Amino acid sequence: MPAVQSIVDEILELKQQRHAIILAHHYQESEIQELADSIGDSLELARRARDFEGDVIAFCGVVFMAETAKVLNPTRTVVLPDLDAGCSLVDSCTAEQVRAFRARHPDHVVVSYVNTSVEVKAESDILCTSRNAVRIVNSIPAENPILFLPDINLGNYVKQQTGRENMTIWQGACIVHATFLARRLTTARAEHPQALVAAHPECPADVLAMADFIGSTSAIIDWCVSAPAEEYIVMTESGVRHSLERLAPQKRFYFVPNENCNCSECPYMRRNTLEKLRDCLTMLTPRIELSDDIIRRAALPIERMLAVR
Ligand code: 13P
Ligand code: SF4
Repeated sequence: MPAVQSIVDEILELKQQRHAIILAHHYQESEIQELADSIGDSLELARRARDFEGDVIAFCGVVFMAETAKVLNPTRTVVLPDLDAGCSLVDSCTAEQVRAFRARHPDHVVVSYVNTSVEVKAESDILCTSRNAVRIVNSIPAENPILFLPDINLGNYVKQQTGRENMTIWQGACIVHATFLARRLTTARAEHPQALVAAHPECPADVLAMADFIGSTSAIIDWCVSAPAEEYIVMTESGVRHSLERLAPQKRFYFVPNENCNCSECPYMRRNTLEKLRDCLTMLTPRIELSDDIIRRAALPIERMLAVR
């Protein structure tokens, strides 16, 4: 039996024994996405985790996503394959910095992207994801000044979409999307003149200006599958290729290497492997452990986000 198949069989067996669900973000390896119960963007996976009624959530994504799952469903055990699956956006903003900003600007509403630590979430008024950021900012009365953190590109995109002037934007960036270069996209468009361009809002403004569609990972997939073109240049992590090719096998998808790694893979997301997934289901570790106090304080802004329609 091929080695990969035997690991897959072990994982499926463990999943049954543990009454577990496997949630996978679109940026995971295809092998992991193939055996997941749900694949999704960060908002979809948060909702799926909240509604799960079994015992164990095996979260194949990065730490902030697994923490969100734990906050939303604290009585379940939440494991993830690799605890070092971080995020450059999370690293760009600490809870102390948010507290210091609040002390200087007590009138500001703090809107935090879900790509933050659970401690930063606990200091926030409301959360957002790339899927609902415009809606969330629009839900805040126009006269209230906003601190939007931590992604500068998403923040600028939201500011432009909402026409909101009273918005201060943090200076964090994603090492994958923020290093996509407009000139490389120009070259890709010259090579594929029939292709439409879809981009994640964490990309720089000059890349977004060339996009036919801007949205979250799942929104990009849905749009590419349903739009009439045969070819697409996809400005996000190349893990989305898995769903794109499954859902639209007749179409062609091109990815543009970024400046950071000359690839379009997130080094944090790609720390997870099938072997580590098997091991975390076997040993129930690494596990997300959070204090009751942090869960209570972080749950509030997340629930506020989920309540905005
Ligand atoms: P989504 O909310 O689109 O899943 O994005 C999460 C992320 O980390 C993008 O880099
Ligand atoms: Fe963070 Fe960027 Fe990786 Fe998403 S792609 S998890 S924002 S580093």
